[in-house]
Amino acid sequence: MEISKCKSYRDLSNLVADVIEYILALPESKLVLPTGSTPTGLYKELVNRELDWSNVTTYNLDEYVDNTIQNQSYRYFMMENLFKHTNIDDDNIYFPGDTAVWPDMNYGVGVDLCLLGIGGNGHIAFNEPGSSFESETRMVDLTEETIKDNSRFFPTIDDVPTQAITMGLKPIMSSKRIIIMANGKHKKDILEQAMYGDITEDIPASILQTHTNMEAFYCD
Ligand code: PGA
Repeated sequence: MEISKCKSYRDLSNLVADVIEYILALPESKLVLPTGSTPTGLYKELVNRELDWSNVTTYNLDEYVDNTIQNQSYRYFMMENLFKHTNIDDDNIYFPGDTAVWPDMNYGVGVDLCLLGIGGNGHIAFNEPGSSFESETRMVDLTEETIKDNSRFFPTIDDVPTQAITMGLKPIMSSKRIIIMANGKHKKDILEQAMYGDITEDIPASILQTHTNMEAFYCD
């Protein structure tokens, strides 16, 4: 397993956009998508490419519970940054918490590509340190560190929700292919620990080392 070091954030976004372009061209495809600051360049690039999103179903990794700041919901983020600029069918967009889709989210059935960011503490989606590698999609409490990290998107830290629904590590690992992206020097150590260190529930992303079709992209 090697971490691919990209020349720039733009380069990273373009490389991952190439993979998604390939997935979108399949007759029917399923994509799992992240939110956060890391994928914004990728989503911009995908919008610029004016691709055909009519054959894809997307599942987002996570969503806050009891969020009172509506323009910080992950659904809002995805609509603004990606979906509303594409021809994706609204009925093909799913978030955890949409009851109808939970069985699918639980088993990761037939997901062609799962795209991930990595948290400063090694979380993927909202699977915080200590999450079982066997975890299913579920409601979780966010850690102090994650609440602090995410407070940059909210008016005050008290506005950050303390719970979320997250796709579990087991369904994530059921995806046929996984890409993890990390942008910035502050993510270098945790990405290296996750990719090269011990496989441990203390660093949820370390489970990815056991996936047979996984790539990691990093830029400074
Ligand atoms: P970021 O978050 O893309 O905003 O760095 C990643 C994550 O916490 O999963």
